[in-house]
Amino acid sequence: MNINGAVALVTGGCGGLGSNIAEHLSSLGAKVVIADLDNSKSDCIPDKFIKYSFDVTDPDQVKNSIGTIVKEHGPIEILVNCAGSIDSAPFVNLMNPNQLMLDYDRFKSNMLINLDSVFLVTSSTVEHMLLNRVKGCIVNISSISANGNEGQCAYSSAKAAVNALTITLSKELGKLGIRVNAVSPGFIGTDSTSEALSEAHIKYIISNTPIRRLGKAVEVSKAVASLVENDFINGVILDVNGGLTI
Ligand SMILES: NC(=O)c1ccc[n+]([C@@H]2O[C@H](COP(=O)([O-])OP(=O)(O)OC[C@H]3O[C@@H](n4cnc5c(N)ncnc54)[C@H](O)[C@@H]3O)[C@@H](O)[C@H]2O)c1
Repeated sequence: MNINGAVALVTGGCGGLGSNIAEHLSSLGAKVVIADLDNSKSDCIPDKFIKYSFDVTDPDQVKNSIGTIVKEHGPIEILVNCAGSIDSAPFVNLMNPNQLMLDYDRFKSNMLINLDSVFLVTSSTVEHMLLNRVKGCIVNISSISANGNEGQCAYSSAKAAVNALTITLSKELGKLGIRVNAVSPGFIGTDSTSEALSEAHIKYIISNTPIRRLGKAVEVSKAVASLVENDFINGVILDVNGGLTI
C-alpha cells in the first residue's frame, strides 16, 4: 500500500510512540489525523496534523468522531491503534495487606483502554472502509508484555487479547481487502516506560536485551510503516524488541 497521499488515523497520537508514528507516516506523505484524549499535550503536536480529541473507550464518542473525520477528510485508509496505557501492578501484593489482590476495577480499566479501545476504533473505521470500498490497513500497537510479564497481570492480558483480535480480524477482513497486523514493541525509551518502571528494573531489562539498550520510538514507527507498505503481510505480530524474551 502506498502511504503517500493516504489518510492515516493514529490514536494516542500525542503520546511518546503515537507522536513519532504520526511524524513518520507524515514524512512518508500520509495525511495524518491524530486522535487523543489529552489536550494538554497538544502543544507538542505540529500544526500539520489534524487533531481530534475524543475518548477511544467511549463507544458514542468513537462512532461520532470517526464519522466526522471521514466526512471532513475522506475515508481512512490507514489506522494505527496506539492509544493505550502501560500499567504495572502484581496480581498479589504482599506489601499491601489492605489490598492484597489486584483491584478488579483496575483490571477492568486496563482492559478498557488497552483492548476495548482497539475493538471500538477498528469497528467504526472498518465500517467506513467497507461503505467507501477502501482497501485499508490496520496496525495495532501491542507489547512484549503480551507474552505474560510478571507484575503486569492486567496489561499483559489486554495485550495478549489485542494479538488474538489482530489475528482473528486479519482472517475475517483479509478477503475484504483490509489487512490487520500488530507491532509488538519491547521496552522503548519513552516517558511512559520511565513512569511505569523503576530505574533498577530498566537497567535489568537492558542487561537482558541482546542489543543492550532500550528501543527508540522511530524503530517502532518504521515497523508500522513496513507493515502498511507490504501488501502481502497480514495477521502478523511483529516484534520490535532488540531480541529480548520474557
Ligand atoms: N513505550 C513503550 O515502551 C511501549 C512498549 C510496548 C507497548 N507500548 C504501547 O504503545 C502504545 C503507546 O504507548 P506510549 O509509550 O506512547 O504511551 P503514552 O502514554 O506516551 O501515550 C499514550 C497516549 O494515549 C492517549 N490516551 C490514553 N487514554 C486515552 C483515551 N481513553 N482516549 C484517547 N486517547 C487516550 C494518551 O493521552 C497518550 O497521549 C500503548 O498502547 C502502549 O501499551 C509502549
